[in-house]
Amino acid sequence: MSDPRTAEFSDLLREDRTFPPPDSFRANAHVRDERIYAEAERDPEAFWAQFASELEWSTPWTQVLDWRPPHAKWFVGGTLNASVNCVDRHARSHRRNKAAIIWEGEPGDRRTLTYWDLYREVQQFANVLKKLGVSRGDRVALYLPLIPELAIAMLACARIGAVHSVVFGGFSSESLRDRINDAQAKLLVTADGGYRRGQIVPLKQMADEALQDTPSIRNVIIVQRGDRSMPVHVQEGRDHWYHRLMQDASPVCAPEAMDAEDMLYILYTSGTTGKPKGIVHTTGGYLTGTYATTKLVFDMKDEDVYWCTADIGWVTGHSYVVYGPLANGATVLMYEGAPDWPQKDRFWSMIEKYGVTIFYTAPTAIRAFMRWGVDWPAKHDLSTLRLIGSVGEPINPEAWVWYYRYIGGERCPVVDTWWQTETGAIMISPLPGITTTRPGSASRPFPGIKAEIKNERGETVPSGGGLLAITRPWPAMLRGIYGDPERYVRQYWNRWGHDVYVTGDGAKLDADGNFWLLGRVDDVLNVAGHRIGTMEVESALVDHPSVAEAAVVGKPHEIKGQAIAAFVTLKEGIFGTKAHVDELREHVARKIGAIAKPDDIIFTADLPKTRSGKIMRRLLRDIAEGKAIGDTTTLADASVMAKLKTQYENET
Ligand code: WT7
Repeated sequence: MSDPRTAEFSDLLREDRTFPPPDSFRANAHVRDERIYAEAERDPEAFWAQFASELEWSTPWTQVLDWRPPHAKWFVGGTLNASVNCVDRHARSHRRNKAAIIWEGEPGDRRTLTYWDLYREVQQFANVLKKLGVSRGDRVALYLPLIPELAIAMLACARIGAVHSVVFGGFSSESLRDRINDAQAKLLVTADGGYRRGQIVPLKQMADEALQDTPSIRNVIIVQRGDRSMPVHVQEGRDHWYHRLMQDASPVCAPEAMDAEDMLYILYTSGTTGKPKGIVHTTGGYLTGTYATTKLVFDMKDEDVYWCTADIGWVTGHSYVVYGPLANGATVLMYEGAPDWPQKDRFWSMIEKYGVTIFYTAPTAIRAFMRWGVDWPAKHDLSTLRLIGSVGEPINPEAWVWYYRYIGGERCPVVDTWWQTETGAIMISPLPGITTTRPGSASRPFPGIKAEIKNERGETVPSGGGLLAITRPWPAMLRGIYGDPERYVRQYWNRWGHDVYVTGDGAKLDADGNFWLLGRVDDVLNVAGHRIGTMEVESALVDHPSVAEAAVVGKPHEIKGQAIAAFVTLKEGIFGTKAHVDELREHVARKIGAIAKPDDIIFTADLPKTRSGKIMRRLLRDIAEGKAIGDTTTLADASVMAKLKTQYENET
């Protein structure tokens, strides 16, 4: 493969330890039989329809798939409601008083909502939204901490056919403003604040800044989460307290029957341009995909206590904190805060305290746990765990084995799940009752999913490295980029024909059919499991009055996977001091959010450019990674590189 970053990962393939599923796990697993793959392959549409029929529909579909590449319609003619599937049908069943959400706040406060509680609160909030003029098709922005009201608000939107757009609470005012404006959201739900490492993040204050420039917003609802120590500005006529509105709201709100292809939500994610894309997911296919994968990959059973540590602001939280598990009628644990608050065993104490059976987290967290040492988990009884999962970035075999041994007690299957915001649901993953896993490999495509490795020319590579492509439509696939139909085609379906989805990831396929994910091959970084576009950070940097030009690259980081390195040229007469580095880092945090702060900022008189003026990021990456500098023959001025390399080595 031509991408220079893949070579160093090839030692992953030397990993030859294998972990067959324990007999005791297999004996009770939903999937015990390898033939599921062959059956799904024989008739993928029938395979998915089987799962769709386990959901509740108001009108049955007449056609499973209408595929006009690259536009898919799943379950054509069918109507259903996502909140009915996630709440009502459980509230009507033996699960009525089962805990749907067990929530713990960072300060230690806790709340449990049964399916019946959720049923009432979702309907109440749906009525609140309606009363404030929200109707079918309207967009609602949600900027909240990880509290039950976030899930309630999502489901309430789904109930009345409104489209939610959740904005992660760690994003800046400007990011919130841009997302609200792109989606033309009519209403915003936020909170006075949320807890993070003992501090209150002043969400309403941040929202107020955004709201100065969001003409589409008519009303704002504020959830009271903080300790009331913070002053909260309430704008008469526009802003309303959640608890006040809920007091007067009826707990009965008939669900809208939504077309399978009606929009369920928009979620913004970073791409290769400076502007995040609003990924569109629809109702029937998305619910089918998240329902099926939750059931099979996590082997979800009625008696499980399931905990996915992701924030709901990311797709992992949408699919595997809210929609997938609730569609399965599961008990979901939610935790508001940081893993090291008040101490580094917060997660393990939560697992012990709530008897968690299924645990799903990110490699960056696992690497931090490794660094903190085995004494923290050893202080707790983790014996209720029966399955552990990983998502968000490639997991290095060392972290995998540590996780398996010290968290899973060498008894739990590990599911390393590959997917993306765009795919909506897990695409490549072990099935825990049947897959023999290899640390570092996400193993094989989920039944019904067709993934291939392609070379630059688009030829399928039977084994070895290349670019990961998905070559058959799947129910939870994105349906578009909000407001930009053309970019949808160009970005994802235009490299090797309109029927091949381009993932942006590099991968290798081994002789046994296992996929080894190697990271992004485009200008997208993965920092601590968070997706950040290099162009976004560059735009934030050049927005600062002192900056003339900026180039951003990723460099390997022991815990975060990747860290951000920025090469910056300042305008005439401005000198790069240490204080100026801090100023620029803060500027990026203000523009995007703290997750996008560069680790290194190097001031330089020149950037390496081709004779036509294109910045050669490949060479900057070599510097940031501490590698020998690659081919510089196309550079306009080759001496730039030698100077930069020495400077980088001295300054970082
Ligand atoms: C990118 C998608 C959907 C999960 C949360 C991230 C990387 C995700 C894995 C994995 C190797 C992974 C890919 C992908 N990624 N899971 N198990 N192994 N890489 O969603 O923000 O849309 O990012 O995360 O590079 O393209 P996202």
